Amino acid sequence: MKIYLRILTYAQPIRRLVPFYFLAIILTVVFGLINFSMLIPLLDILFSSADITEAIRMIEKPTFFWSVKYLKDLFQYYFMYVIATEGRVKALYFVCFVIIISVLLTNIFRYLAEIIVAEVRTKIVYNLRMKLFDNVSQLHLAYFINHPPGNIISRITSDVQEIEYVIVDLLRVLFKEPVTITGFFVVMYHISSKLTILSLGFLPVAGLIIAYILGKLRENAVQTQASIARLVSILQEALSGMRIIKAFVARPYIMNRFKEENGQYAQENLLMEVRKSMAPPMSEFLGVGVVTFLIAYEGAKILMGQADLTPSTFFTYIICFSQALVPIKSISRSFTSIQRGRVAGKRIFELIDTPSEITNQPTALPIHSFEKEICFKDVTFFYQHQQTLKNVNLTIRKGMKIAIVGPSGGGKSTIVNLLARFYDATTGEITIDGMPVKTCNIYALRKLMGMVTQENILLHDTVYNNIAFGRPEADEASVMAAAEIAHAHQFIMELPQQYQTIVGERGNKLSGGQAQRLGIARAVLGNPPILILDEATSDLDSASEQLVQGALEQYMKDITAIIISHRLSTIRHADEILVIDQGEIVARGTHEALMAQAGLYTNLTNIQAIE
Ligand SMILES: Nc1ncnc2c1ncn2[C@@H]1O[C@H](COP(=O)(O)OP(=O)(O)OP(=O)(O)O)[C@@H](O)[C@H]1O
Ligand SMILES: [Mg+2]
Repeated sequence: MKIYLRILTYAQPIRRLVPFYFLAIILTVVFGLINFSMLIPLLDILFSSADITEAIRMIEKPTFFWSVKYLKDLFQYYFMYVIATEGRVKALYFVCFVIIISVLLTNIFRYLAEIIVAEVRTKIVYNLRMKLFDNVSQLHLAYFINHPPGNIISRITSDVQEIEYVIVDLLRVLFKEPVTITGFFVVMYHISSKLTILSLGFLPVAGLIIAYILGKLRENAVQTQASIARLVSILQEALSGMRIIKAFVARPYIMNRFKEENGQYAQENLLMEVRKSMAPPMSEFLGVGVVTFLIAYEGAKILMGQADLTPSTFFTYIICFSQALVPIKSISRSFTSIQRGRVAGKRIFELIDTPSEITNQPTALPIHSFEKEICFKDVTFFYQHQQTLKNVNLTIRKGMKIAIVGPSGGGKSTIVNLLARFYDATTGEITIDGMPVKTCNIYALRKLMGMVTQENILLHDTVYNNIAFGRPEADEASVMAAAEIAHAHQFIMELPQQYQTIVGERGNKLSGGQAQRLGIARAVLGNPPILILDEATSDLDSASEQLVQGALEQYMKDITAIIISHRLSTIRHADEILVIDQGEIVARGTHEALMAQAGLYTNLTNIQAIE
């Protein structure tokens, strides 16, 4: 229940509609009940032959009092009045007129209530998705490494959809149906308190059955929704890895995984349907059981002439009772969706409530420029339990070009990941101009850096937007200038729509080298004072690399750069070269100094020399 109350808070801006919804529902129910109460006079006119003129003389206009009884008496008064003055046929017309008017009003108010529900529902779905994506997009990187995308996607799509479906059911079950049922029972109580109390005796039995079914359905809902998340994961992985699946003829493997999960989902869903189908027949059987009991009990009395009720009132009572069963059945039919919605809500709020591990401290300082130096002081870092960096000490003064080399898995990318605060150092401290990066505003810090990440990531968008997407303030001239530096302008102009060409999912309409040059253009756009290149030219052929290299060197003259590369040509002119092995800086110095000592660096360069 708590979850549903929380979901309803997401209707926020249209909360003011809620009282109108309640009002509309109450009026729908009241006019609906008036229809049914019309049955008694209707039956009386049509079937009673007794002379009622005597009775009419006795009736007086009731004095006003706020109660159902007053309304009943008032109607009775006018009804009798019409019979006395105009005759039975006119009275019949009168009753029919009242019925038409109240049916019209019932339906108008029902329509209004439905419109309000639609608005509330649309708003909730919109707000939930916004909130989910808002939180997901600010979560720390490690979250995405540890949680498969399918898990996140299914929460934002199918779980929110469950909520969308359930809102209607929920408002019905929480409010409309209880009001309807209560209304019917009030009318029934007015007709016969004895029979009504008698029939309520069956409630506990129904309650027990309902509780049992609800418990079972919840288990199913948890399983099916988790299963959908895994299914989306497999699908997502398969679609983005189609190239590799085809290359390795791995279709049977991925088909099998999909089949297994799809089968599990089908099985859970079937079980859920089976259990769900139990509820309506049970409630119907129980309800009709009570009705037949009442008919047998009270009907017998009527036949024996011992009843307190007239046949027409009794008949109306039974009709009211069976009408009260309709909302009861509809509640029992909603069990499944309500349980599914609860589980979906739980999954949604789990994601909304996940805090980012990398956050701006409340006192975070904005940082607008880089003036002096970047320092790593005794930095160690663990990915979960695996130590990746050990006591890294490093000073990068403004304007320096630092190169990082070393064997694969040594920890090169990790160093720049820490600097950009994709992760926080486990111990030690990283400062920029003396300010610990942990105390800087993250976004301001990252704006100081232009970064070409090792895994080149492009979005399914135009070339232009892919270059400019981090700096929406950039104008066309600067985007083109950035493309020139990356030696991308020429090939871009040869594309079908030049800068407006869509690069395809993850840039797969471009060659690896072309995509990489867009990555470089993106990093240099806006002239950030710190440039980080993680294997930024690894996909280029030697000739292109030399061109890009030349342009970049020119560009980097006045800025600070950290260059990770395996290629000697890229790093040999750096002010300092760091050799990283197994998370430690094992050697450092200029190219010449490092060449002078035997070690990892000379080994690496020797291999390249042979190549
Ligand atoms: N998200 C992660 N979770 C756990 N371990 C990781 C993660 N990312 C990297 N590692 C581990 O950290 C170590 C250093 O990785 P890093 O990416 O810094 O290496 P690298 O020097 O950049 O290698 P390469 O030259 O291949 O790019 C590796 O052993 C790797 O397995
Ligand atoms: Mg790396």
